[in-house]
Amino acid sequence: MSHAKALKAPPEYPESARPAHVQGLVRPAALQKATQLAFLRFDKTDLDKAQRFWTDFGLITVRRTSDELVMRGAGSAPAVLVARRAKVSRFVGSAFVVPSDTDFGRLQRDSGAQPLAANAVPGGGRGVSLRDPDGHEVWLITDWGVVDPLPTREPLHRHMNTLGHSPRVNATVRTDIEPAIVGRLGHVVMQTTDFHTMANWYMRHLGVIPTDVQYLPDGSLFLTFFRLDLGDTPSDHHTVVIAGGLEARYEHSAWEVVDLDALGQGQQVLRANGHQHMWGIGRHVLGSQLFDYWKDADQFEFEHYTDGDVFTADHETRYVPFSVASIWAWGHDVPASMFPAKTPALLWRAIKLLRSGRITLKRLMLMGQAVDTPARPWL
Ligand SMILES: [Fe+2]
Repeated sequence: MSHAKALKAPPEYPESARPAHVQGLVRPAALQKATQLAFLRFDKTDLDKAQRFWTDFGLITVRRTSDELVMRGAGSAPAVLVARRAKVSRFVGSAFVVPSDTDFGRLQRDSGAQPLAANAVPGGGRGVSLRDPDGHEVWLITDWGVVDPLPTREPLHRHMNTLGHSPRVNATVRTDIEPAIVGRLGHVVMQTTDFHTMANWYMRHLGVIPTDVQYLPDGSLFLTFFRLDLGDTPSDHHTVVIAGGLEARYEHSAWEVVDLDALGQGQQVLRANGHQHMWGIGRHVLGSQLFDYWKDADQFEFEHYTDGDVFTADHETRYVPFSVASIWAWGHDVPASMFPAKTPALLWRAIKLLRSGRITLKRLMLMGQAVDTPARPWL
């Protein structure tokens, strides 16, 4: 059997050439423009276990008490992750840096924002806490501190020998087997049952720009990769992703490491320490990152990545049909655990969504078809 069709890369249409049947993503005016994804917040039943995973994953402990864990990467951010001890493990929310002239008073009046306590932000700063439409806490902070970056090894690719170009002469490639030191927090992905409401809220409150918008065969929108609007300064292909689905939940977060060899050596360390590998190493299509996915003890997903795309604010939005094939360019097959398991609980959730009118049967079937069509039949 020929797999020629599956070997074709998915089409990508610029906004100006969007197919007629595809809905356009309406962009509301932004209240303020976030300049950085600062840190994520989790509740954890077992802080020791959480700290062990994140340490093996390449984060560095800044502060640890019986009730709280603050971790940083090697970059200048004072924190990239904050965890509190709690009865139930859960993703609490994310924190973004916003400009110092942000009108926090207006956010309190119009968006239900609550001012943050003086010592709430690790590394110092002030700001407010909002709730997105799915109930995740979103902190907008300003005047955030910086710390001195920690030393990391030099990336190897500068000396990579390629066909016709061998800059590495009389020298070998030897990397230490060590955790993939995380430089910084790259992005957070959230699944939602109400794509439009969530997408609109994040565009309005963070000023994020849709880089790639994915749609179902009927042209309805399903998933969008958003980048920060940093003007002429290149910004990651995505910092926030809103993905359609049958649940409102944290999907995964991604953390940038030095290079591909760090990704590989980091995998060895995580495997050796008994952590649960999920998917990788492979290369994504949208965003182009080389990736490696892990699950922590509570089944939350964490992605190591390197070599992601960056775009300036003027780069035109692309529309891409959603398919499993559009998730990755090469590497192992996408694991079944990337999609919801077909359990009675899932069926019940789908029935509830249908009954409440939050999803149509047609959309449910199109989503199911997209997820059930094998992308790489030879894998
Ligand atoms: Fe990702």
